[in-house]
Amino acid sequence: MENFYRLTKGNTVRTGVTLRIDAKTSSMRIKAKWNERYRTATGKRRASLVLKENLHLLPDHGHALDLACGLGANAILLAQQGLKVEAWDIADVPVAALQDLALKRQLSIQTEVRDVEAHPPEAETFDVIVVSYFLNRDITPALVAALKTGGLIYYQTFTRQRVSDRGPQREEFRLVEQELLHLFSGLQLLFYREEGRIGDIHNGLRDEAMFIGRKKT
Ligand SMILES: C[S@@+](CC[C@H](N)C(=O)[O-])C[C@H]1O[C@@H](n2cnc3c(N)ncnc32)[C@H](O)[C@@H]1O
Repeated sequence: MENFYRLTKGNTVRTGVTLRIDAKTSSMRIKAKWNERYRTATGKRRASLVLKENLHLLPDHGHALDLACGLGANAILLAQQGLKVEAWDIADVPVAALQDLALKRQLSIQTEVRDVEAHPPEAETFDVIVVSYFLNRDITPALVAALKTGGLIYYQTFTRQRVSDRGPQREEFRLVEQELLHLFSGLQLLFYREEGRIGDIHNGLRDEAMFIGRKKT
């Protein structure tokens, strides 16, 4: 609260309150938008390619996070590999569906309805973090901090360079060229793939980039 007043010094306190209400309203709007999409969605759960193709890099036990998990395909795959998994998303509809499934299949998945922008993970809490098709640049330092030493982050999302209209239309939600390498430059690079529009654009990984990094210290 003290910081809050200091931040708004020079302005009226009402300005600060307005900013807070705006953040809350925006969070509620995002939640409503995604809940609506999940209520009407018909697609299947699909784990991200970066995780599916690199399961061999996972530790055989430990604590993993599927951040902005949606229906939680990554969380399910991580739990099937023997990890203790947390799965967080701002939208309660997919989170409830994932919790039901985890109970039915007796998978070690703890779900949480959580706005990760307002409440990113705490420092040094996870051995593995997976993020697919979600991009909030402001929380990437918190994601690095949230890894334990030796911890891995798997990241896959859309790029601005594209060959189709898949993914978000707003450019801010798409990566610029090699951006994951910059965002996670403090990590040891284990895997990176981004093919842009090079070669036969009908084949390969298009519209997306994939990254795996490891926290050394
Ligand atoms: C395109 S979906 C991807 C879901 C999942 N990771 C996947 O690969 O299927 C983006 C997800 O981000 C979630 N999301 C958006 N903003 C969020 C926030 N601030 N905090 C937590 N989750 C958020 C949405 O609810 C949605 O489930």
